[in-house]
Amino acid sequence: MTLQDDAAPGPRTGNPTEVAAPETRQDRGIAPAGSFALAAYLERWSACAHPDLAASDSEPLPLAALLRLAGPEDRLRWRRADLGYADPRGASWLRATVSARYHRLEADDVLISAGAQEAVACVLRALLGPDDHALVVVPIYQPSELAVTCLCAADGIPLDPGRAWGLDLERLAAAIRPNTRLVLMNFPNSPTGATLDRATLEGLVALCRRHGLWLVNDEVYRQTEVEPERAVPPVVDLYERGISINGLSKGFGLPGLRVGWAACRDRRALDRVLAAKSLLSSCLARPSEILAQVALRAEPRLTERARAIGRRNHRRLRTLLDRLPELFEPDEPRNLAFAFPRFHGAEGATAFARVVASEARLLVLPSDLWRSSLATVPVDRLRLGLGRRGSGAALGILEHHLLGRSRR
Ligand SMILES: Cc1ncc(COP(=O)(O)O)c(C=O)c1O
Repeated sequence: MTLQDDAAPGPRTGNPTEVAAPETRQDRGIAPAGSFALAAYLERWSACAHPDLAASDSEPLPLAALLRLAGPEDRLRWRRADLGYADPRGASWLRATVSARYHRLEADDVLISAGAQEAVACVLRALLGPDDHALVVVPIYQPSELAVTCLCAADGIPLDPGRAWGLDLERLAAAIRPNTRLVLMNFPNSPTGATLDRATLEGLVALCRRHGLWLVNDEVYRQTEVEPERAVPPVVDLYERGISINGLSKGFGLPGLRVGWAACRDRRALDRVLAAKSLLSSCLARPSEILAQVALRAEPRLTERARAIGRRNHRRLRTLLDRLPELFEPDEPRNLAFAFPRFHGAEGATAFARVVASEARLLVLPSDLWRSSLATVPVDRLRLGLGRRGSGAALGILEHHLLGRSRR
């Protein structure tokens, strides 16, 4: 059986003549302070610009294609599913499948959530209070940073672009206060693609253990690592206070299922996470749980499909950027889902992205959208999503725009 997508290419909506000159801050996709800048930008531009280079998820999988992968047990489950309230922790069979991804975890060490972000928010709410202090490794998905800063004091630890986005453990150690309770990070990192090497991760775990800190890692880009065979273990496998968060939104290509999870060896802490989650949603949708089970059992096929698309698009991007060395400094691929090249144009990456959106009707994300109130994030980069089939055609549009630009 082949993995047939049944997917029509994504719609190109909007008309260039309809792209009005932005007037207000909100029109320009500039979010008010303390709100989610990336969401505001997407809201502003996605109706009139090709979205594939802005996406961080892999090519979405249609429902029919996923159902074709179901084995007899899951097919029966699907046919017999009732739509009553389900287990607030997530179905036990789904938690068992998720727990088997980790070493020595059981179903009760896992809590299923509506997407990875719900897990991040609930873990933070469960573990942090107003007298606490947290360390946040920056850049990070903005809602995660905001979820920390609305709960307690925080400091940012910036990844160092000069050292291949390395994490400076000495700097992190120096920022620990008597009331620091938690380190929050996102590795593999978006938008940089950075990963931690084994020695740094072990040093970080040792530091957290010495100070009794929780180590919370958003691991949603693990499935699209360039060299998964060399990937470091999830934090929950290395540390008794490590919490690994992942889900099906990125490398599985299933963000619409809204299935994520938190894995944690401390069951009392997980009970507190459940209490935080119960204020938001009582349970997951049963159809999503069954489809998540199907996807997890078919993981190699789904993720290899996504990885092949990412590899192909990275090669296309490399060919394009190599032709324009005066405009771009290409990065080695760090994650198959996206690239993060530096832009040298005089107008800067933020203005360039806006011109590309309004003139070429193509959405690319300037690194300014990952700005942080806790640490400096370079603003001279573009994050180019490479996980979609349509990213290849979108790179063609970008190339056309760039060649026109250099003739002007
Ligand atoms: C680093 C990171 N974490 C979490 C999320 C949200 O994941 P989900 O859709 O599963 O809630 C995103 C989405 O872009 C992300 O980039």
